[in-house]
Amino acid sequence: EKFPTIIINFKAYKEGYGHRAHSIAQAALNVSMESGVLIGIAPGYMDIHPMSNHYNLPVYAQHIDAINPGAHTGHILAGAVREAGATGTLINHSERRLTLADISGSVKAAKEANLQTIVCTNDILTSAAAASFSPDFIAIEPPELIGSGISVATADPEIIENSVTAVKEKNSSIRVLAGAGISTGECVKRAIELGADGVLLASGVVKADDPEKVLRSLVSKI
Ligand code: G3P
Repeated sequence: EKFPTIIINFKAYKEGYGHRAHSIAQAALNVSMESGVLIGIAPGYMDIHPMSNHYNLPVYAQHIDAINPGAHTGHILAGAVREAGATGTLINHSERRLTLADISGSVKAAKEANLQTIVCTNDILTSAAAASFSPDFIAIEPPELIGSGISVATADPEIIENSVTAVKEKNSSIRVLAGAGISTGECVKRAIELGADGVLLASGVVKADDPEKVLRSLVSKI
């Protein structure tokens, strides 16, 4: 089975929406086609439809709510995100943290809407707990390294290894991504050596002057 090994989260960076979202997506598509490495993108909601329309890439929402269709003003409905063209969603990102009950509800809502689920976690125990919901992916990201430019693969290799062990012990079909401070091919290689099935990253690509160059580096050692 083919699956994204590299997922780029556009967050709410000023460099990550509108025209700039298109150039990052085009760069991701070019590098993905050249290298054979599947690259997914998680743009803001307004860009989900254009991104999925124009680029043959897996598109993830950055969050969905634990709701069923109905009277929920201002909420994000899994089915609507799916219909806009997303293939999956992040859940419980450190910058969009949920209660345990809401993680459970969001995973359920995503599954019912046929969206792939990526539950983000901040430590090993949370990774183990998240495995109970049987998401497609768990993405371990130590909050203190997010956006720091310091790679989790070198600064905290144990959190990757131990999360992989904790998750796979519970459910070996869940894939584990590592994130925070990833910006080079060396970081990606190291994360994979530590047992990760891929990486989730943001600033290294989104804020780069030349995102395509960074993406080329990311896939260079896989
Ligand atoms: O979701 C990915 C993210 O939180 C990691 O951010 O900027 O450290 O790659 P960054």
